[in-house]
Amino acid sequence: MMIITIDGPAGSGKSTVAKELSRKLGIPYIETGSMYRAVAWWCKENDINPDDESRVVDSLKEMNIDFVRENNRFIVLHGGRIINEELFAPEIGDVASKVAKIPGVRDFLVARQRELCEKGSCILEGRDLGTVVFPDADYKFFLVTSVEERARRRVRQLEEKGIRADFKNVLEAIRRRDIQDETREVAPLKPAPDATVIDTTHLSIDDVVETIVSHIRV
Ligand code: DC
Repeated sequence: MMIITIDGPAGSGKSTVAKELSRKLGIPYIETGSMYRAVAWWCKENDINPDDESRVVDSLKEMNIDFVRENNRFIVLHGGRIINEELFAPEIGDVASKVAKIPGVRDFLVARQRELCEKGSCILEGRDLGTVVFPDADYKFFLVTSVEERARRRVRQLEEKGIRADFKNVLEAIRRRDIQDETREVAPLKPAPDATVIDTTHLSIDDVVETIVSHIRV
């Protein structure tokens, strides 16, 4: 049983790295950002104001969203329908950043994340996996990347999904989100003291995966 955590800001390549690493090691991976995005999606669908903290927390009881393992990936289901694609719309990202500041939402999702890993080894990527969710993880990595490079990557990623995006808007959105994620009171984005920090600005995905694999003893 092995827990590997990969944390870092939006656009640092975490999800692609986690996916590749999962394929290489044959260990399932969880994009925890999609869990915060799922809560944001739920709020939008139900006209719940994401700034109304107690209303958001109250509504979690009724949230019929499941996180289910399919092969080596966890998918998000709403009443049996896969909603992963919808979660990546830019406006959902903004709402996700808001709901991620609410302690009751974090407690709820952190408990789910721990539950999902009870059955065996897992790779988890997000913001607070090495600091809060699994402080005793076997391996912890923290990816850093310049903000311009992250914006370029995000535009490319959105285009691959068929969503047109303007570089300047994406850059601004990432800056805004960095500030929200780094300055929030609960679980702010920061490397765990024992995390291996990797600067991915000039590295390919394969380079990052190789660096991570070189640290892991299976
Ligand atoms: O990685 P992402 O862009 O899909 O994450 C969406 C939002 O969720 C982002 O604003 C940060 C938040 N998040 C978090 O607070 N903690 C995590 N472990 C993962 C994501």
